[in-house]
Amino acid sequence: MSRSTIIASFASSLLVASVAADPWPKRGLAANDDIPIYEFGGSWNGYSSEVNWQYNWDSTTSQKQTFAEYVPMLWGTSSDHTTQWFDNAWYWLDNGGSGHLLAFNEPEQSGQSNLTPQQAADAYITYMEPFAGHASLGAPAVSNDGYEWLSEFLQACSGCTIDFVPIHWYNDASLESDLENWVNSICSLTGRQVWLTEFQALGSIDEQSTFLRSAIPFLDDNDCVYRYAYFGTADNSEVLLENGGPSLSPLGVQYTFSAYGNGDGPN
Ligand code: BGC
Repeated sequence: MSRSTIIASFASSLLVASVAADPWPKRGLAANDDIPIYEFGGSWNGYSSEVNWQYNWDSTTSQKQTFAEYVPMLWGTSSDHTTQWFDNAWYWLDNGGSGHLLAFNEPEQSGQSNLTPQQAADAYITYMEPFAGHASLGAPAVSNDGYEWLSEFLQACSGCTIDFVPIHWYNDASLESDLENWVNSICSLTGRQVWLTEFQALGSIDEQSTFLRSAIPFLDDNDCVYRYAYFGTADNSEVLLENGGPSLSPLGVQYTFSAYGNGDGPN
């Protein structure tokens, strides 16, 4: 073996080891309950589904899939979200096979959960911290305008148990490198696992497909990234579905069945 072959084979054994250390692959669905997602499991033309987790911006669901871990979210701090939170979260942790919890959605946006870093830290201590040691806990999920907000939150919540950091990303389909820079900047800022719980390339379906051919291998190969969910099974974006589903669109097939780690498979 040449020196470069030895290095390449060592690097690939490291990659296999780090992949094997994860209990699951990384791909998931951000899916409102009225969007049918049961065709995202199983196999397609010999390729197995890579989708193994789901969430719905809520703390319970009526469409938990057998092939996916359901991850409850406390979307915001108003009583319509908090009243059922503890009952729902404990139910899914104790009986539903869930092992992770998500906190407030885009808190830096006035049209979303709309919290200051200090308000979010106080609420995190009330609603998330009781689950420390029982589940893996996610910070509030900021949009790609939320770097400063997240920095301030991490300071305000410095004594909190924060196991991973969810983020979102939306930008032009031609700017895949911007996604990479954004993810890497959050990995550096937080030193924690990152979940990309919403992301979508803005552009035609063909442009989104091209984007995913670069983005999925980047996300799969980046050890800092634990999970991700493309935004395409939601009330206001159904691009992963054919005419509202349940059949998958070609983009949905690509997202679901392109092989883990290398971007092979349908595209
Ligand atoms: C909102 C959720 C909504 C979802 C899908 C998110 O950005 O916060 O309330 O269900 O988008 O439309």
